[in-house]
Amino acid sequence: MDRPDSALIGAARQWVIDSYPYNSRHLLKALDWLDRIAPDATEAMRLATLTHDMERAFPGPDQPVQEKIDGLGADDEYNKAHSARSARIVGAWLREQHADETLIQEVERLIVAHEIGGWPEANLVQAADSLSFLETNVDLFLDMARSGKRTLDEVMLKFSMTYERIQAPAARDLALPMYEAAQQRVQEFAEEHQDEPSS
Ligand SMILES: [Fe+2]
Ligand SMILES: [Fe+2]
Repeated sequence: MDRPDSALIGAARQWVIDSYPYNSRHLLKALDWLDRIAPDATEAMRLATLTHDMERAFPGPDQPVQEKIDGLGADDEYNKAHSARSARIVGAWLREQHADETLIQEVERLIVAHEIGGWPEANLVQAADSLSFLETNVDLFLDMARSGKRTLDEVMLKFSMTYERIQAPAARDLALPMYEAAQQRVQEFAEEHQDEPSS
């Protein structure tokens, strides 16, 4: 059964839908996954999960660009900048809503950690993001391979890192079939495009 939203979660849902048409589904689904793997999640965990990527809805000169997915330093650098910028934007929005300052700071802390986790609550937010990614973003990334924006190796690496980073054991079990399906899609894509020169 759906968990009832607080007024603040309801407002955040609307903010996500209105401001991020490009990929609001990923954020809305992330909250669904969190409610499934952590039915007792705090308001801060729910808000952080629902808004963790919001910086992508607000282009600007300080928006980080991921030149290459390498599973190494380039990813770390991008993830840090992306997470910090999302935390800033969500924190500012929560202050406009006159949310409680302690709550805001906890949301910011969780968003800063959403790509890496690090403590039980952050690991659950990260797991919910990963589950939602595997549910909603596989086609988006395969399209990037199709258009030449990313290589297929980068796309496969993104899928494997998304699965491998999950630390909450129950979430790993839920993610595995979606990860295997994503691997299958990559395999099929490679077979379909094997005669084309790689970009
Ligand atoms: Fe993210
Ligand atoms: Fe995400």
